[in-house]
Amino acid sequence: MTTGEGFSTRAIHGARVPEVRQIPASVPIYQTATWGFETQEEYAEVIAFERPGHTYGRGYGNPTVEAFEAVMAELEGTEAAFAFSSGMSAIHAVSLALAVAGDRVVVSRELYGGTYALFSKVLPRYGIEVEEVESHDLEAVRAALPGAAFFYVETIANPRCTVADLEALASSCRDAGVPAVIDNTFASPWLCNPASLGFDFVVHSVTKYIAGHSDVVAGVVCCSAQARSTVQGVAIEVGGAMQPFDAWLAIRGLQTLEVRLDRQCRSALILAEMLAGETAVSAVHYSGLVSHPQHERASKLLRPGYFGGMLSVEVSGGIGGAAAWCEALSTAWIGASLGGTHTLVTHPASTTHRQVAASERAARGLTDGLVRISTGLENIEDLLADFSHACRTVRLG
Ligand SMILES: Cc1ncc(COP(=O)(O)O)c(C=O)c1O
Repeated sequence: MTTGEGFSTRAIHGARVPEVRQIPASVPIYQTATWGFETQEEYAEVIAFERPGHTYGRGYGNPTVEAFEAVMAELEGTEAAFAFSSGMSAIHAVSLALAVAGDRVVVSRELYGGTYALFSKVLPRYGIEVEEVESHDLEAVRAALPGAAFFYVETIANPRCTVADLEALASSCRDAGVPAVIDNTFASPWLCNPASLGFDFVVHSVTKYIAGHSDVVAGVVCCSAQARSTVQGVAIEVGGAMQPFDAWLAIRGLQTLEVRLDRQCRSALILAEMLAGETAVSAVHYSGLVSHPQHERASKLLRPGYFGGMLSVEVSGGIGGAAAWCEALSTAWIGASLGGTHTLVTHPASTTHRQVAASERAARGLTDGLVRISTGLENIEDLLADFSHACRTVRLG
């Protein structure tokens, strides 16, 4: 390729990519948006996916991103994966890959507020009708499925942590010939592999447990190789593909997913048991509690003995009680997101699920006193002391 004598020319072309024969322990970050070719024909063939290679950073492929996609497909047990710049761009791309104007899609009523907003506000603008169903009512789901472009549910639903009968939902979709899409963010591939239950598309907000350190926003879709091409097509046309540094952070995060989530699940269970005995808390939503209505189902669907690092509680005193409780915490932070090293509390009705109209919230269990907890990696003794203190504050207040 080019050479020249001028200072800038030498500065631009002098840094040759080294030929490395050893395999580095950390996947290199290919922080480049474009690639060179010897011939125009080679460029034309690579951009048309007629021969392997790389062209451009908007979803055409990048070695660091591909390394992340490969490990995600491996961990989810799917043929392939395609990575995005956020969980929402992943969910948006799957929606556009499966549905067109005039289609109807069937979605669970219990979803992350951002997903609810995509389905209730954005898809209708594309001419896609969105029908909500109670995912725990199999008959209602089965009645709604025929003719739908896809079905959508969360493994552990945000924010009340319910677990639907995922196997039955996937097999109902198969019977009706409807692609089944699941958001596996709360569970992560360590707790559940929904493809093995019959789901066709497994999406993640990589931002959460997978990257795990609250320092990256990213998403991924795990699916068949054929479906990947369609999803990739959306990313190329619409944008939103994952970028190399984010892929590097996500690859690094995945390496400790098991050890992090093992601790987070254990802490969540201890915390749930403690909070269940507190009078300041009228209900604890955590499927690890034997008293939880879906305890048995979660025991079968999730990794044996583990129920996730997320729980939610109903704090007495409505919105005022919930605010006082959250503000009395000091080890746990009030903040957005989940799945990181810091324990975070969120008041869904005013933040993550603010898109749900006030008149709709009660029917969805988004009560004024509901607080969602993402258990971090702090020492459990400190977390117990912190949450006990918050309960005492609300009781006395
Ligand atoms: C269950 C779930 N899915 C998807 C998303 C969206 O992910 P992102 O924020 O990476 O776009 C979130 C974000 O909180 C989430 O909780």
